[in-house]
Amino acid sequence: MTRVFFCPNLRQKSLTNITSLMLIVPCLACFSCFSCLPCFSPSVSILFDNVHKAFGPKKVLQGFSLEVKEGETMVIIGYSGTGKSVAIKHIVGLLLPDQGTVFVDDQEVPKLSRRDLYELRAKIGYVFQFAALFDSMNIADNVAMGLRKRGNMSEAQIRDRVAEVLDLVDLPNVQDKFPAELSGGMRKRVGLARAIALRPSYILYDEPTTGLDPVTSAVIDQLMVRMRDRLGVTSIVITHDMRSAFRVGTRIAMLYEGKVRQVGSVDEIRNSGDEIVRQFVEGRAELDTTAGV
Ligand SMILES: Nc1ncnc2c1ncn2[C@@H]1O[C@H](COP(=O)(O)OP(=O)(O)OP(=O)(O)O)[C@@H](O)[C@H]1O
Ligand SMILES: [Mg+2]
Repeated sequence: MTRVFFCPNLRQKSLTNITSLMLIVPCLACFSCFSCLPCFSPSVSILFDNVHKAFGPKKVLQGFSLEVKEGETMVIIGYSGTGKSVAIKHIVGLLLPDQGTVFVDDQEVPKLSRRDLYELRAKIGYVFQFAALFDSMNIADNVAMGLRKRGNMSEAQIRDRVAEVLDLVDLPNVQDKFPAELSGGMRKRVGLARAIALRPSYILYDEPTTGLDPVTSAVIDQLMVRMRDRLGVTSIVITHDMRSAFRVGTRIAMLYEGKVRQVGSVDEIRNSGDEIVRQFVEGRAELDTTAGV
């Protein structure tokens, strides 16, 4: 199928649902701005637009805006408790913004009907920060859950897919075990397997390597890169692990005080001139703001 790039001008006019036209040349609406060639850059897949979110008096997101382009891996870094998990929960409608909005594939998530939201969620794999497995189900059933819910595969196909994704996360032969029998790191990898089993267009990874040993972390990083390069998956990865961030990110955004402090390429973040970003990236204990001390 021909690759479709949306024209941002059309996007603004909310006419982007004309996917069937298969736009491979600039559309008429943007003929006037032909020189900027916006139609040939990857389209924005996920857009946070000035999102505010508070829990009671606690303001978490305070004007969070971020664009994630099709096919890229956006890494979100930031101190614990700054709202990274809160931010990505807006993508699947687990949380609704108090102000601002979120788009996925040109669909405004907070405005979707329950049915459309379920359809959207079917395209998104979510690797939760805390594996979120069902203790009463064995690993095979945990991984197969989404596939069964979708209802378009036979039990034999499901069994094969479960074995395939467990292999991918380096956990062969755990199908019959229960979550309590696995280590925290293994449970995390099962969560990852469950997300990729659905072959989603998007994957949201919330701290996929936290608590894993360096070798397993490297394997998971490799897997995330493979999902992007081979399957064209668009991802957001939340991590504190800068080594992993530099390995998997096409771009990195730092969330600080409810907003994006800086977003840029791996090199831009690695060599950031922003003191707050540098402090985080270098893992320094505290910001020394008192000269001479
Ligand atoms: N459902 C909720 N109800 C009330 N407060 C919440 C809720 N979810 C998150 N919070 C609060 O929002 C703030 C941000 O939480 P969040 O989990 O997004 O942080 P984080 O950046 O992901 O941190 P970490 O790196 O530790 O995972 C925290 O103070 C948290 O207690
Ligand atoms: Mg979190």
